[in-house]
Amino acid sequence: TESDTQTFLFEKNPNPVPASEREALLQNPGFGRVFTDHMVTIRYSEERGWHDAKVGPRKGFDLDPATVVFHYAQEIFEGMKAYRLPDGGATLFRPDANARRFRNSALRLAMTPLPEELFVESVRALTRVERDWIPAADGAALYLRPFMFATEVLLGVKPSAEYVYCVIASSVGSYFKGGSPAVTLWVSENYTRAAPGGTGEAKCGGNYAASLAAQAEAIEQGCEQVVFLDAVERRYIEELGGMNVFFVFNDGSLQTPPLTGTILPGITRDSLITLARDLGLTVREEPYAIDQWQADAQSGRLTEAFACGTAAVVTPIGKVKGRKYGFTIGDGGAGPVASRLKAALLDIQNGRAADRHGWLDRL
Ligand code: PLP
Ligand code: COI
Repeated sequence: TESDTQTFLFEKNPNPVPASEREALLQNPGFGRVFTDHMVTIRYSEERGWHDAKVGPRKGFDLDPATVVFHYAQEIFEGMKAYRLPDGGATLFRPDANARRFRNSALRLAMTPLPEELFVESVRALTRVERDWIPAADGAALYLRPFMFATEVLLGVKPSAEYVYCVIASSVGSYFKGGSPAVTLWVSENYTRAAPGGTGEAKCGGNYAASLAAQAEAIEQGCEQVVFLDAVERRYIEELGGMNVFFVFNDGSLQTPPLTGTILPGITRDSLITLARDLGLTVREEPYAIDQWQADAQSGRLTEAFACGTAAVVTPIGKVKGRKYGFTIGDGGAGPVASRLKAALLDIQNGRAADRHGWLDRL
């Protein structure tokens, strides 16, 4: 396990955030605003392959204005967390799954894939260096953001011949302000997120850029997140701006949209399917129509719905609004199935429950 310290040159930040200031920041970090002292960088060129792997001081990039990423958005990213363990140690959660998805995203964006082992080593290396930045509070974690972008200087439209891979880290608490017990969704009827054959299942910045107008509409309507419908029939629920979605029925079964290529294959989604089945629950990966969701919520056939993702963990959905829609789910608060699954997931991630599926990568 020392291989990463051999792969990565380490240059210590000469001016780290003082410990007292760091401790103060960790008290209430919010999401994505508190950054650590170091970052990983690895470069790729056709001549040299992947080279110059380094953990060094966090700093900006000096990029030519004609760098490919600025013009054609050839960029992908990942999101994962390092958790504090009861013995004071740290763990990653399924970093191999993020490595595989990052590879798939790279291939879709015609980028050179980073070897999966190098991805895993890079997040291990940064987490080891920044372990004091992992907040101890329940639900808090060190959010790791690996990303890669095209660095060739060229205005011709073609895959870049050069890339920079980078990992930064951010101490985070709850994604939603006030750790709200349930969120309200806005059904996007003007905008879709991804069409068949598009980039929906890749984690590329462009998907998020394309979602912002819909998300802004949601905020304008007093909702926390947008929910997208499929781009062909504008009928089936796909996912939220930054989360997958589950539905819970009064027979105790769960349902989540299938991975048809237009939604992000969430690692939280996949883990929850496994955990729900461990608990003896039935889980279907099948399409669910928005009209059916409204009818089922109103009849009581649907008892809960929740969003899930690395940032959101498990967040109950209390209400759904739209130009043509408006309904409350259950009593509008957290339901028992969402609470049980959230606890089961957090107990594994924080080392309080047995890791039966080999998901933890202890550092
Ligand atoms: N869907 C979208 C659009 C996302 O941005 C995310 C977050 O990464 C997810 C789903 C959930 O994926 P994961 O559970 O791997 O974090
Ligand atoms: C994540 O959960 O990692 C995401 O990318 C979602 C985003 C809303 C932060």
